[in-house]
Amino acid sequence: MKYTLSLSEHLKNKIQEIVDLDSDPFYLYDSNKIKQTCQKFLDIPYSPKAIHFAMMANSTPQFIKIIKEAGLSLFINSIMHLDTAQQLGFTGKDIIYAASAMEKKVMLRAHTSGALVILDSLGQFNQWCKLLPDSPVGLRCNIGDLVVPRKTIAGYFIGKDSRLGLTTESIEKLTGDPRVIGLHIYVGTNILDIDYFLACYRQIVKLSALFPKLQFLDFGGGFGLFEDSREEFDVKKYGSSVSRLMNQLSEQAGHPIKLFLEPGRIIGGDAGYFICKVVDIKECANQQLIGVNASCVQFPRPLFYPDSAFHPISIIHKTPSTNNAPLRLSSVYGCSTYSQDFLARNVQLPNVAFDDIVVLGYAGSYCATAHTSFLGFPTAKEYFL
Ligand SMILES: Cc1ncc(COP(=O)(O)O)c(C=O)c1O
Repeated sequence: MKYTLSLSEHLKNKIQEIVDLDSDPFYLYDSNKIKQTCQKFLDIPYSPKAIHFAMMANSTPQFIKIIKEAGLSLFINSIMHLDTAQQLGFTGKDIIYAASAMEKKVMLRAHTSGALVILDSLGQFNQWCKLLPDSPVGLRCNIGDLVVPRKTIAGYFIGKDSRLGLTTESIEKLTGDPRVIGLHIYVGTNILDIDYFLACYRQIVKLSALFPKLQFLDFGGGFGLFEDSREEFDVKKYGSSVSRLMNQLSEQAGHPIKLFLEPGRIIGGDAGYFICKVVDIKECANQQLIGVNASCVQFPRPLFYPDSAFHPISIIHKTPSTNNAPLRLSSVYGCSTYSQDFLARNVQLPNVAFDDIVVLGYAGSYCATAHTSFLGFPTAKEYFL
């Protein structure tokens, strides 16, 4: 695993400028990088399509404004995010709302917003039909019995080990139902293998023949973004395969079937940085323990995914002569008494000094948004270049 993060001089200068004004920990985003990734998805040749950013990856209003300006719509799974989206000018037609265990008032709120709603179970479908007779809806499909499901970060999203979506058997029970206008799948997260996506999508395409009023397929998100830059997700190659599949489907159906995608992490993951400052240094079992003025609750991905959240680090030394120092085993710990308050563990870093700046990369998705008030540290400020 490669832990070092390279920063342009421009970015280093910007970081230094902000640190000089305000020494509290903060996030910094590269807006152009976010827009470029949005554009890659918009360039997928298939039409009609819409790209719905998964708002749970980053719900900061300024971030959402950037993806809106770039031409993306939203995928939302909570009423709080729905409220924010509407305040930011998104209307129902720009929103896909999907959740699980939706109670009646949530269904009604999502429906009155005008959003396209995706349901998670047969029970939810029956409840929806009682509450809103004849209102069209989509179904989240768990077709794990038709493929070999793969475990991704956070476990399985299809198959018998996933709690989500209607099983193939449940979907078949709704055969011919005119209220079902779309099928949805979320294969898993951080996936690079385009063939695996396609193998799952083909099963959804087959099932779509059961629904005469089908208008859309939603292939979810899950596009890989790896912190060690092992490989980049090939949006172009993915786009041409998906377009081929959708063109065939539309031809068979005799009318255009709309494609929805819901990318989350890939949109801004590598465009965000978390910045904090060295305020203590300890030695423990031949390891450099670097104490910073931030807590893991302000940078929570390592807290939620201790085994899989890796964030490459760059140190901006206060004394430049210490640049190019040899690397050594180190951990970066937070400023609470919580024993698991680590921002990075067992990484290779140079010796640091008080007031050096620690920059953690790949901090644009599932980081600022995941702040928790546990331990009592405020949300970190967010700046956009
Ligand atoms: C239904 C659904 N769509 C899209 C996403 C975004 O996923 P990712 O960040 O892996 O692209 C999620 C994330 O959990 C999701 O649950």
